[in-house]
Amino acid sequence: MKLKYSIVIGFVCSFVFGQNKHFAPGKEWKDTNGVHINAHGGGILFADGTYYWYGEFKTEGKGGNTALKGVSCYASKDLYNWKNEGIVLKVEEDRDSEITKGCIIERPKVVFNKKMGKYVMWFHLELKGCGYDAAKAAVAISDTPKGPFEFKKSYRPNKATWPIDFKDKFKNASIDEQTLKSWTPEWLKAVKNGMLVRKDFHKGQMSRDMTIYVDDDSKAYLIHSSENNLTLHISELTDDYLDFTEKWTRVEPAGHNEAPAVFKKDGIYYMITSGCTGWDPNEARSFKSKSIWGPWEALGNPCVGKDADLTFHSQSTYIFSVQGKKDQFIFMADRWNPKNPIDGTYIWLPIKITEEKPILKWFDKWNLETLAN
Ligand code: DGJ
Repeated sequence: MKLKYSIVIGFVCSFVFGQNKHFAPGKEWKDTNGVHINAHGGGILFADGTYYWYGEFKTEGKGGNTALKGVSCYASKDLYNWKNEGIVLKVEEDRDSEITKGCIIERPKVVFNKKMGKYVMWFHLELKGCGYDAAKAAVAISDTPKGPFEFKKSYRPNKATWPIDFKDKFKNASIDEQTLKSWTPEWLKAVKNGMLVRKDFHKGQMSRDMTIYVDDDSKAYLIHSSENNLTLHISELTDDYLDFTEKWTRVEPAGHNEAPAVFKKDGIYYMITSGCTGWDPNEARSFKSKSIWGPWEALGNPCVGKDADLTFHSQSTYIFSVQGKKDQFIFMADRWNPKNPIDGTYIWLPIKITEEKPILKWFDKWNLETLAN
């Protein structure tokens, strides 16, 4: 009788909560309605016993990478089975809105702000019809993880402020930078020495690919590709997470990093990034630092094995820790499909830290239990 009961309960639970028992990187990943998950360039929030996965809602064909609906959200208790919670930040019909239908919304990340009791979403925003020129970071807030998120503001961060460690001698150009030919050694040296920081000093610094990192002391940071994707910036957010304190620094000047994802283990900050090749995959990079403010030490490609030079045909988007599993971090990446963006798949892999270096190894199929063995 007891056995019969547990079989029935097991069946009902697996029916209600879904069937996935593994991660299958790169494969179609069906939600609890049997539809491929549509949350690209995403990030994870854990709140009240539930994981929430936010991402770019893509559509079919040409134009499918622009925001025609907004930011989607899925909820899960076990990380394998995800329920579609719908569009939590909707694009607007108003043509004058910065988030009008057809703009570009990329890499949304949601964090909880304890002080305000609000959920805060940051994302990369490009204005409709302007390509990637606006290069803005934007913020929206909600009372609940399931939204609706209300769009608040967009920024070119750190207007008229220098990075914390910027040398006085670089605050004015020493040569005629306009005449330098791109990608020559002189040009790269000028970029390293802040040519593009100076260029955007009054307008505010660019912000394209981004992530948010919340530290143990609740301070939050926007980590963003700036200076035309040549240099990463780390910008501290105000206590409400809605603005910038204007304390910021540069990482890997002229290093050409995109797709930053940050985590911390045993007091060391780690960052995984990609190079810049549009929607095409390239070799990931990794870094470590004892402080969020650096210096960040380059550790090379974290991927090992077949296709390590292409990050297993994917590009990083986020790293999160699994609840109740000490030091278990999951690397999230996108296998983009620019011809039909909605078909892009997800690469989730466990991160192993060996001698203060993150290592990513491919698994066709894995789960948290098999990892433990
Ligand atoms: C690479 C970025 O990582 C993506 O988020 C997107 O902006 C594409 N470039 C656009 O080409």
